[in-house]
Amino acid sequence: MCGIVGVLGSHEVAPLILESLKRLEYRGYDSAGIATVSSGQLGRRRAVGKLVNLSDLLVHDPLAGHSGIGHTRWATHGAATEGNAHPHRAGRVAVVHNGIIENFRELREELSHKGLTPQTETDTETVAMFAESLLAEGMSPEEAVRATLSRLTGAYALLFLFDGEEDLMIAARKGSPLAIGHGDGEMFVGSDAIALAPMTERITYLEEGDWAVIRRGGAEIFDAAGRRANRPEKRIHAEMAEVSKAGHKHFMMKEIAEQPQVLAEALDHHAPGGEITFGGQQIDFSGIERVTMVACGTASYATHVARYWIEQLAGIPCEVDVASEYRYREPPVPKGTLAIFVSQSGETADTLAALRYASGKAETILSIVNVAESTIARESDIALPILAGREIGVASTKAFSCQLIVLALLALRAAEAKGRLSAEQVAERLAELRQMPGLFNHAMAKAGAAARIAGELAEARDILFLGRGRMYPLAMEGALKLKEISYIHAEAYASGELKHGPIALVDPAVPVIVMAPHDELFDKTVSNMQEVMARGGRVLLITDAAGARAAAEGCWRVLEMPDVAALWAPILYALPAQLLAYHTAAAKGTDVDQPRNLAKSVTVE
Ligand code: F6R
Repeated sequence: MCGIVGVLGSHEVAPLILESLKRLEYRGYDSAGIATVSSGQLGRRRAVGKLVNLSDLLVHDPLAGHSGIGHTRWATHGAATEGNAHPHRAGRVAVVHNGIIENFRELREELSHKGLTPQTETDTETVAMFAESLLAEGMSPEEAVRATLSRLTGAYALLFLFDGEEDLMIAARKGSPLAIGHGDGEMFVGSDAIALAPMTERITYLEEGDWAVIRRGGAEIFDAAGRRANRPEKRIHAEMAEVSKAGHKHFMMKEIAEQPQVLAEALDHHAPGGEITFGGQQIDFSGIERVTMVACGTASYATHVARYWIEQLAGIPCEVDVASEYRYREPPVPKGTLAIFVSQSGETADTLAALRYASGKAETILSIVNVAESTIARESDIALPILAGREIGVASTKAFSCQLIVLALLALRAAEAKGRLSAEQVAERLAELRQMPGLFNHAMAKAGAAARIAGELAEARDILFLGRGRMYPLAMEGALKLKEISYIHAEAYASGELKHGPIALVDPAVPVIVMAPHDELFDKTVSNMQEVMARGGRVLLITDAAGARAAAEGCWRVLEMPDVAALWAPILYALPAQLLAYHTAAAKGTDVDQPRNLAKSVTVE
């Protein structure tokens, strides 16, 4: 959500900033801009739409300078126009921002008394104006930024550049992540390490409330109380620098295809040699009486699946909630609660706020994340990595299946700790999970069939997804995946709920996708499916060989999956949901990796 880059370099920085912004484009692609200081003068270029528009603009109208800041935007305040694009400038100050300044109206009011009028609809411009008004009163850039920060409420990552200052950037972090990169006589700032990976391996993450005065010689970091802070320098892995579709047309397809490999890696890390070790991290279930799981979007559907596993296998009562609602419910969090937060990015603002609500109340805060250095991971008692590798497609795929694998292992470990499963039973269940990479490989062979069906789904205006029991969350994930990248309206229902209202939507124009392996609930789901067919509904049944034998008759289409242990079927059935969404979007010609209005890593509430 909004990408930020800054460079104090030894050569022209605009091409470097542009290159880094490309790596951050997954955070937003409504508009983009760069500001530099050249011969003491601030200059900037901004363009609406994808980064390529900015890059074209820079070809015709280059921007010189060895110091600069850049931004790729996901609009919050104000439409995606050039005027609202970052960097924002007021007098001698240019600013890029990720987050929301909640009190910007109040600050504008204050500035209007000084005769200052904003030129844009954005909250960010107010920050630049406020800092400029303090420079005008005679403050130094450091003093002006410090005083400005003390007046801001909300969440932000901010990066300032100043007219007349070729060796200065000031960065600040509250609620949105920011990393400083150390070069050889050069310094960098980025929203995440990924942006900085091609430029340096040496990274310092700012902590909550930190701000930093950065010059080519190094960075001075201050904490929220204004004290000098020593933040450790870390090495990032070279593989972060690699961004390639590996021959696929889209990152999403590459990431779908990577699942056999990343699932195997996650299993090898967390359960090497048939024993669940979580890479040596101890999880003490002895005092745990209940589990609360909180996440957003796709990650939240992973928690919905895991609730079935934790309750059925470990017998521990389990609640799940979406992070944006959780803390506003003000739920009691009794001691004895294991609070689990699931997040691919580890930076989702809602999930982080929920985690902070539960901190100090729950027995243990455990997170399941893909980005090991993320804020959510760092603020947890235990952070389990899902090891999916970098996910670039905005629609989450491999992270979902890896989240499910780690949650499945957690449920097994809890079941053993609670004496509900013996070591032998755990080993049997684990052996079933170990088949998952092979099953994904096998099921990938269905991609052609999924593509053909998707070609027909692409004609639909509305699509329903049905599932029962553990497959209900999968139906929700299937509907989310489809709507976010194909823009077809899709809804999911628990199969049994259909007759309580949504069945009114059924007609031949509305395909109904039923996700039903031949498990203990299959016959009940088939009854609900018959109710759809009796009303002229077109059913696509996703099932296994036994399910197809039993219930294919009368279905519009059947997509047959390999046999899989019923308990773990939701992991494998994520694949057809992903393939159908992908191929439907591809058939419609939408922007699969960067669907409209969305961004990855949602760092605003
Ligand atoms: C959907 C999708 C989103 C994310 C959600 C949470 O495909 O990717 O629904 O799952 O925004 O993001 P993380 O997992 O980064 O917290």
